[in-house]
Amino acid sequence: MWDFRELGLFICALSILPLVCFSADFVPLDNYLIDCGASSNTSINTRNFTADSFYNNFISTEQDILANTSLKSITSSSDSPLYQTARIFTAPSKYTFPINQRGRHWIRLYFFPFTYEKYNLSAAKFAVTTQNYVLLSDFSVQKNPVMKEYSLNVTSDTLVITFAPSDNSIAFVNAIEVVSVPDDLIIDDGYTLNPAGTYSGLWTQALETVFRVNMGGPTVSSASDTLQRTWVTDKEFLIQANLASNFSNIGAVKYVNGGPTENSAPPSVYGTLTQMNSAGDPRSNFNVTWQFVVEPHFQYLIRLHFCDIISKRLNELYFNVYINSWWAAKDLDLSTINNNVLAAPFFKDLITAPLASNKVFVSIGPSDLSSDYPNAILNGLEIMKMNNSERSLSSSTAVPLTSTSGSSHKKVGIIVGVSLGALLVVVLVGVFFFLRRKRRLLEKQGHSKTWIPISINDGTSHTMGSKYSNATTASAASNFGYRIPFATVQEATNNFDESWVIGIGGFGKVYKGELNDGTKVAVKRGNPRSQQGFVEFKTEIEMLSQFRHRHLVSLIGYCDEKNEMILIYEYMEKGTLKSHLYGSDLPSLSWKERLEICIGAARGLHYLHTGYSKAVIHRDVKSANILLDENLMAKVADFGLSKTGPEIDQTHVSTAVKGSFGYLDPEYFRRQQLTEKSDVYSFGVVLFEVLCARPVIDPTLPREMVNLAEWTMKWQKRGQLEQIIDPTLAGKIRPDSLRKFGETAEKCLADFGVDRPSMGDVLWNLEYALQLQEAVVQGDPEENSTNMIGELSPQVNNFSHEEVSVSATQFEASSLDDLSGVSMSRVFSQLVKSEGR
Ligand SMILES: *[C@@H]1O[C@H](CO)[C@@H](O)[C@H](O)[C@H]1NC(C)=O
Ligand SMILES: *[C@@H]1O[C@H](CO)[C@@H](O)[C@H](O)[C@H]1NC(C)=O
Ligand SMILES: *[C@@H]1O[C@H](CO)[C@@H](O)[C@H](O)[C@H]1NC(C)=O
Ligand SMILES: *[C@@H]1O[C@H](CO)[C@@H](O)[C@H](O)[C@H]1NC(C)=O
Ligand SMILES: *[C@@H]1O[C@H](CO)[C@@H](O)[C@H](O)[C@H]1NC(C)=O
Ligand SMILES: *[C@@H]1O[C@H](CO)[C@@H](O)[C@H](O)[C@H]1NC(C)=O
Ligand SMILES: *[C@@H]1O[C@H](CO)[C@@H](O)[C@H](O)[C@H]1NC(C)=O
Ligand SMILES: *[C@@H]1O[C@H](CO)[C@@H](O)[C@H](O)[C@H]1NC(C)=O
Repeated sequence: MWDFRELGLFICALSILPLVCFSADFVPLDNYLIDCGASSNTSINTRNFTADSFYNNFISTEQDILANTSLKSITSSSDSPLYQTARIFTAPSKYTFPINQRGRHWIRLYFFPFTYEKYNLSAAKFAVTTQNYVLLSDFSVQKNPVMKEYSLNVTSDTLVITFAPSDNSIAFVNAIEVVSVPDDLIIDDGYTLNPAGTYSGLWTQALETVFRVNMGGPTVSSASDTLQRTWVTDKEFLIQANLASNFSNIGAVKYVNGGPTENSAPPSVYGTLTQMNSAGDPRSNFNVTWQFVVEPHFQYLIRLHFCDIISKRLNELYFNVYINSWWAAKDLDLSTINNNVLAAPFFKDLITAPLASNKVFVSIGPSDLSSDYPNAILNGLEIMKMNNSERSLSSSTAVPLTSTSGSSHKKVGIIVGVSLGALLVVVLVGVFFFLRRKRRLLEKQGHSKTWIPISINDGTSHTMGSKYSNATTASAASNFGYRIPFATVQEATNNFDESWVIGIGGFGKVYKGELNDGTKVAVKRGNPRSQQGFVEFKTEIEMLSQFRHRHLVSLIGYCDEKNEMILIYEYMEKGTLKSHLYGSDLPSLSWKERLEICIGAARGLHYLHTGYSKAVIHRDVKSANILLDENLMAKVADFGLSKTGPEIDQTHVSTAVKGSFGYLDPEYFRRQQLTEKSDVYSFGVVLFEVLCARPVIDPTLPREMVNLAEWTMKWQKRGQLEQIIDPTLAGKIRPDSLRKFGETAEKCLADFGVDRPSMGDVLWNLEYALQLQEAVVQGDPEENSTNMIGELSPQVNNFSHEEVSVSATQFEASSLDDLSGVSMSRVFSQLVKSEGR
């Protein structure tokens, strides 16, 4: 019995209950989620984004290019799989969406500029329009991913979104959402500020979300909002943060009939607030003020969200609200608004005149009516830009609106309806696993890394693309856009300076190198072209072009000029795992470090086995092929022998036995049958190697000790593994952790492949072994199991996004972050399994 499954079930059971509150009762009738330029569907947050190639009829373009970053370095700033592909337009192009339900719709546009072939998307400049409104003009995105959110009332049967390049430029988009908004979210009426009065006409306004803030609380991710909105924290907008304090009581929020609903704002927004930090002084008299920078000359719709979760009784709290020193609310007593229900949400819509300056100040302060204790609160705030009289949301030069007549042969595609019957529980589990991830992603979006610029050969040497692949599409061609000129490689390695050699392998020598932008690289130069080496060279490029994962070493480029076979990889500062175990002077690794390295490598292998439609078998798993970066993060390397494996449980691949002695799966050796389980066997040997810190074959030892696998299995079976572990670990491994680790390795070494666990199971068990070890360090070893579960859940959440691009599975796709490599489907299927028992 694998303990983690029970644990997993428990986590699942614990987490589903409170999540029921997320069940969205609003089902959008129009729900177009389009992943532009993609060749396969992508799931995010349990929302399915369809590759726009399936929507060909939707797009009417004169010329467009599907761009794909598959070989470019995908950095954490562009974590979302949506950002990994784009559609590039060289002439005005339209997406046409049939509208099932007229009314307000979200339009969310995702942009992330990368370089694809000759197209530098950072230099793109373009306009985006609908039939009635200009959303963007002369728009460009410099570096970071940008998501633009609009809402507008669609009053025709189709919504046409046009992307039009500015003069001599190009346009692009990574993803588009067109989703129905509940009719009552934006009503026609509001209040004006200066002079104070009423306003009507919001129905015809196109709105652009400029700020959406959760006062006094954390960022609320789109996954925990019924309308997929993101609410950011208010700290950075507070002018004098010391005058403000926060308060939270999410459970107190009471939605009442006729008042705002969860679609107005979620409980996580209404249940937190920023208030006056009166520090117990009953004479406190000051304002708490937030400042927002906006584009001047536009009018703005400002929605203030309130919910009195602090008062103990009715009529306790009176306060004032100002926007740019105009009255937004005077002597506001929230307790009387909703039939005397305290803690009932309330919002107020205020419309500004066209702004003269680029700042909006929102202040709250005590009212003269305050009886005993002066205070003032604000729970949430949205600032939406309104279209100007030219129906534009952009102040740049006027652009013509999408013409409604359009081209006569414009076709309207048929859309598969929204799957209304999505299993609620499935969605909830997904949402749960997603909450934290998404938040982290949002936090991370601020910083970005740029890609390593690679000079690409202009094609004077023969192209490997045609030779190495049967792919014909433009995106496949990008896989081979990484050819680096020989001269550049020479320069990077100081003309293959012998003193720069950092390793020698069967394939040839490995040099340290530095590209002219300072990027450190490892340059593997093959021996003069032998047929054998050539096949491996080719395999390695193909494999690494298809697979990008945090725990697989990444290929920066290659060079095949002048019969050379040169591969250029990211530089792994700390070398091989093997060198840290024995045979060098390197300091020995702690047990925790070793576990983390094993977990990383297991993630990489798990990804290879499951991340692609066909399993890929590494075939040469060993400690010398597990490399460590400067933070000791493990990456699996050397794919020269890799093979695309059998479809799960179907057939087998028969091929000449290859691999390294001491690691070789005896079953593969006997029967010449290759499956992923051969990698699992080799990995089991690595686990024992890590534990015992000795070579897998050591002929200098007494006979029964020569073969590490045999030797350790003997002790494992006796239950005395601790007798033979690396002496530097003695007394430092918690017995539970060692037992779990030993059992895991033992299972990997089972004689028959069918009896071995999958790489995913191995991964889970190693994570569990780490948790067992951590429990000692972090607290009382006698601590009850609840604590363990609390510890485990963040691990459960460590999923990698890279798997997403090659997978059609919803749950794998819902992970955005790249912290690790467990697939979501794995988690889910395991939870389900245990439930069934
Ligand atoms: C992608 O999604 C579309 C529409 O939802 C569907 O028609 C198509 O079959 C899907 N493709 C794959 C490969 O799942
Ligand atoms: C892409 O365009 C941006 C903006 O014009 C420029 O700063 C950048 O250097 C260009 N990058 C490349 C690789 O040409
Ligand atoms: C959209 O506009 C039409 C008329 O312009 C109006 O009747 C309808 O109520 C509006 N719907 C929404 C959701 O704003
Ligand atoms: C609430 O206030 C505390 C103390 O000032 C601060 O540490 C915390 O980060 C605040 N939380 C939020 C969500 O602003
Ligand atoms: C709060 O701000 C408003 C508007 O700017 C101002 O009129 C009022 O005097 C301020 N109150 C205090 C106590 O500073
Ligand atoms: C926004 O566009 C509508 C037309 O759809 C127009 O009636 C309205 O006046 C515009 N808004 C402003 C603030 O000019
Ligand atoms: C997403 O697609 C998967 C399979 O492609 C399907 O099982 C799931 O129900 C879909 N989810 C939603 C929310 O439509
Ligand atoms: C990118 O292109 C490669 C090669 O054609 C393809 O295998 C991969 O699926 C594409 N990635 C995405 C996310 O579409």
